[in-house]
Formats: sequence, structure tokens, C-alpha cells
Amino acid sequence: MEKKSNHFSGQLGFVLAAAGSAVGVGNLWRFPYLAAKDGGGLFLIIYLILVLTFGFALLTSDIAIGRHTQKSAIGAYTQMRPRWKFLGILTFLVPVLIMTYYAVIGGWITKYAVVYITGQAQAAAADDYFTAFITSSTSPVIFALLFMGVTAFIVYNGVEKGIEKVSKWMMPVLLVLVVVIAVYSLTISHTDASGQLRTGLQGFLYYLTPDLEGLTVQRFLQILLDAMSQLFFSLSVSMGIMITYGSYVKPEVNLNKAINQIEIFDTGVAFLAGAMIIPAVYVFSGTEGMGAGPSLMFISLPKVFSAMGKAGTFVGILFFVTAIFATLSSCISVLESITANCMEIFHTSRKKTVLVLSVIYLAASAVIALGYSIFYVEVKLPNGSVGQLLDIMDYISNSVMMPFIALLSTILIGWVVTPDYVISEMERSGDKFRRKKLYRVMIRFVAPVMMFILFLQSTGILS
Ligand code: PFF
Ligand code: NA
Repeated sequence: MEKKSNHFSGQLGFVLAAAGSAVGVGNLWRFPYLAAKDGGGLFLIIYLILVLTFGFALLTSDIAIGRHTQKSAIGAYTQMRPRWKFLGILTFLVPVLIMTYYAVIGGWITKYAVVYITGQAQAAAADDYFTAFITSSTSPVIFALLFMGVTAFIVYNGVEKGIEKVSKWMMPVLLVLVVVIAVYSLTISHTDASGQLRTGLQGFLYYLTPDLEGLTVQRFLQILLDAMSQLFFSLSVSMGIMITYGSYVKPEVNLNKAINQIEIFDTGVAFLAGAMIIPAVYVFSGTEGMGAGPSLMFISLPKVFSAMGKAGTFVGILFFVTAIFATLSSCISVLESITANCMEIFHTSRKKTVLVLSVIYLAASAVIALGYSIFYVEVKLPNGSVGQLLDIMDYISNSVMMPFIALLSTILIGWVVTPDYVISEMERSGDKFRRKKLYRVMIRFVAPVMMFILFLQSTGILS
């Protein structure tokens, strides 16, 4: 076996790169949307409990497996148990699918950043702006290719000189930007046409207060499932990415600390994203503005920015630059994990591998970007929603494959290789693994059951 030449320089580099993967559009737009939909503080509490139990167990497993085997998903699962190679392959396929559309979303965000930088905040707030943009057959393609190209360039430069170097400045800047916008959101207020004054502070309280009104068992379960699927999407677990990043961590790094820091970073940014978006939407459109779902980012927010007047252009720039950083660092991790797996399978060099993958994914991104125009399709997904190419890829990878893989991997670790495999890796640096008992219970019993339910629900078997 050839020796790994690629490593993060130390704990900080690893934590920021992993946080870069974890912090993405999921934090900036899906988390606030779910929090608003699922009872504010109630969602926050449930999410927090899940992060500290279930999320912690999944993230720990991925990272420890990566560091122990020094391999990416396919190699890692094969090394643990040759008969489980299929799980490695399945895991590898998740980023393979995600990569087809992630740069497309990155392209949309880049386009919006450009729109705000060039002072077109009012135009972006028009009703059909977003639809007109994504159904065009040129602009979304150009921005997707640009985003894909930048991603490939960084991965081409390697783990320490590419990924770590970029994450080390981008993630701290991102954190500052989110804090700045959140603080600004708390200070705004607006009187609407009917003379009602709404303040950012009220919006913030709306975000934090648990809404227990009309809470039924069924609604509670729905919130629990929403929080759970958000959680493992958010932490980038069960798709091999954290296995790959874990394989670049040096043996002396204390994984306990690193994992805590990654979780704090990801959850902290999600919470702050809610604190910046929910009060702002609340001030300018009340609580009805919250139901917008994924269109929040490209349709509702531009309206909010436009209502802010002059400040809106500036806030819009800050927000979409933040979103570029979040999406780019995630996109990098997706491509890196594909690259690492391919390098191990085909024994090729990083540069050659990235070049070949770039050609493939530039083409794939273009096709997906054209999924709203030339390659328009409309498919009814088993979960009841109607989607185009992008949604189909997203549905297969995130709603079907990820819970299924998470389920199988908890069975593999909990019952076949046993949790001691992970625990001893966690203690290799000489540090004690404090949450050992919690880890065992989660990985053997709780996580498999929860993943099974989530899998049934997201595939529409259970509704
Ligand atoms: N963890 C990212 C987020 O919360 O937005 C999303 C993500 C990143 C998903 C990387 C998939 C992926 F491969
Ligand atoms: Na995240």
C-alpha cells in the first residue's frame, strides 16, 4: 500500500476544513426554515439534543473510521470487513450524485452575489426574477461551470495547500459575517401598511420561543424526523466525506476535542443563520413569510433586502458572500471525497484524477443547470413533492441513500466490528473518550432504530 502523503497540518486545519464541509446551505437556509416551521424553540431544543447524542455518534464513527483505516469510504469499509465493501461503494455514490448539482446551487448563489454587488437589489426582488434566471439556458450554466472550476482548482492543489488553506481564512470570515448580519437583524424594525410595528427583537423571540400550541404526538414525531434528517445532512455524515477528511488527521490529534468543535461550529452557524433570517423575514413580512421553504433564499430574502432600502444592497452582498463561502467549502469536500476514493481505486495521481473528474462534472453540472430549461422534466417524488433534475438527484442521495447507508453503517459498527473499534481509535492520542457509554448505546440501539424510521418516512413507505 502506498503511504498517504496528504494530511491536515494539525487540529485547527482539520476542524476548519470539516466545519467547512458541514456548514453549507443546510445551515443558512434549511435550518432557519425548519425552525420557523417546526415550532421555533421546540425545534431548537430537539435539534440540540439530537446533535449531542445521535449526531455525535455518527460523526464520531465516520471520523474515527477514516483515521483508523487511513482510507476513504470504499477502502475503509473493505478493510474493516471485506464483505461490507458494497456499503463503501454505496457511500461513495452519495457524493458522486451530490456533485452533479451542488455546483449548480453554488452558481445560483454566485449569481445573486454578483447581482447585489452590481447594485441590482430591486430587480432581484421582482416576482419572477428567480424563475426567469434558472429557466434561462445560458446564465445558470455559466455560473455553475465557474463554481465547479473554482472547486476543482482548490481540490487540485491538495489537502493542505488547497482545502486547508482556503478553509483557514474562509471559515473565520464566514463566522464573522453571520454574526454581523444577525446583530443587524435584531436592530431593525418596520411599520407595515396597516400601521403595525414589528421589531427584530420580536422576531428573535418568535424564533426562540417553543410553540407548543396544538402539539400532537404526530406533529412531535414530524418535528423529530425533520430535525433528524436535517442533522445528518448538516453534519455531512453517512456520505463518506467525514471518513475521507478523518483519513487526513494525524494520530496525535485529539479527536474528542476536534469533533466537539466541528459540532459547535456547525450548530452555532445554523443557530446564527436563524437569528439573522427569521427576525428579518418577520419584520418585513410577519410570520406568513416563513413558510416559503427552500425558495426562501432566492425569493423571500431578496424581498426582505429590498424592503431594507439602501442598507439592503449591503446586507445582500454580505449574505450572498457568506453563502458562497459556505457552499464552496462544502462543494470542495464533496469533490475531495470522490477524488480520494478514485485515487485509491485507480491508483492515479491527485492531479490526473481531479482533471478527469472536472471534465465529467463540468458536463454533469451543465446538464443539471439546464434541468429548468432545455432538459426540463417534472417527476412526482415518493415523498409527495414534484421535482426537476436537481430535486431528483437530491432526493435519491439525501432522502433515500443517506438514511439507508447510515442504518447499515450503524449495524456494521454497532454489531459487526463492535464499538470498541471506534473507541480505541478515539483514545489513540492518549486522551480519554468521555462519552464512551453514550456512544455505545447510540450506535448499537438508538441510531439504527431512528435511521430505520427515517428511511421509511423519507421514502414514503411510512407517511
Ligand atoms: N453539510 C452541508 C450543509 O449543511 O449545508 C450540506 C452538504 C455538504 C451536503 C456536503 C452534502 C455534502 F456532500
Ligand atoms: Na451543516
